[in-house]
Amino acid sequence: MTLRSVITGSGSALPKRAVSNAEMAEMVDTSDEWIVERTGIRNRYIAGDGETTSSLATEAARRAIEAAGIEAASIDLIVLATATPDQTFPATATIVQHNLGCNGGIAFDVAAVCSGFLYAMATADSMLRTGMARRALVIGAETFSRILDWDDRATCVLFGDGAGAMVLEARDVDPADPAAPGLLGSRLHADGAHNQLLYVDGGVSTTQSVGKLRMKGREVFRHAVTNLASVLQEVLGQSGHTAADIDWVVPHQANYRILDATARKLGLPAEKVVVTVDRHANTSAASVPLAYDTAVRDGRIQPGQLVMFEAMGGGFTWGAALARV
Ligand code: UT7
Repeated sequence: MTLRSVITGSGSALPKRAVSNAEMAEMVDTSDEWIVERTGIRNRYIAGDGETTSSLATEAARRAIEAAGIEAASIDLIVLATATPDQTFPATATIVQHNLGCNGGIAFDVAAVCSGFLYAMATADSMLRTGMARRALVIGAETFSRILDWDDRATCVLFGDGAGAMVLEARDVDPADPAAPGLLGSRLHADGAHNQLLYVDGGVSTTQSVGKLRMKGREVFRHAVTNLASVLQEVLGQSGHTAADIDWVVPHQANYRILDATARKLGLPAEKVVVTVDRHANTSAASVPLAYDTAVRDGRIQPGQLVMFEAMGGGFTWGAALARV
């Protein structure tokens, strides 16, 4: 028998206010046609007064806990990925922990921008398999609308707010059983040489301000397809699977063209790729668990299937993970 991290529940949350491309075109010089053709985005959700990264994260976490059928008090680890925390400190994870009433365990944030959920998942997985915790909440939550430059049409049309969460539980499984559930492999990477292609132009230690998101979109796009295709192959190699074994890919939802190009590079049919970028836009660290939860709840992803998660973002950081759900 071997200890594996098994996904036992997922949940997600969105702000109340939906904003269409037509509404964006009233704010900046853009059009529904341009946004749909270049990105696949049709809609995004924008947080209003009182909606914060921690409030969205708490709502998503509550739904994941309910789906897992467990008591919130039994959670002994929270890893929350975000680039838009409620406060500079303490970690937003500790606010969520208190909201849920599971005080006393481990709770911390992970900053890897759009790859944050993959980093959080791999971290929680390591801690569960080494016995530091038994039952983890892994959350991706963002209010990116608050770091957008609303005068920059090249970035403000791309992002949205939201949260997604998963319960991961340490379970003894028979590794020889191909149907045994759990995380089968994951790989993470970072290359700080590309810091200036996607960043926020402010921060505590430099400007003492929050700053705004800046991106050289075309360069990020090019790196994204190459890095994602490569890390997906690494994870397949690590777990002894081939692309043909994958039932679903749940990618970071940055741009439909990136999802499509990455799937093509691997020879995966478009029908196996979960796409929610049209509805949610790019929600950074929230996008992978938000897309996963959407596809679980609408019945696309079924128990027993093999699911590949992947993301790439600022840093650059990128990663992938394979799980039997
Ligand atoms: O989540 C982290 C990872 N981030 C990403 O993966 C984002 C990756 N990059 C992308 O998705 C794409 O590069 C974008 C969607 C950001 C941009 O698409 P593109 O095909 O690379 O367009 P571009 O930046 O090269 O711009 C093409 C044209 C430019 O006009 P000119 O110079 O050709 O006259 C832009 O000024 O489109 C113009 N443009 C717009 N036009 C209407 C840029 N933004 C807009 C806009 N509406 N919102």
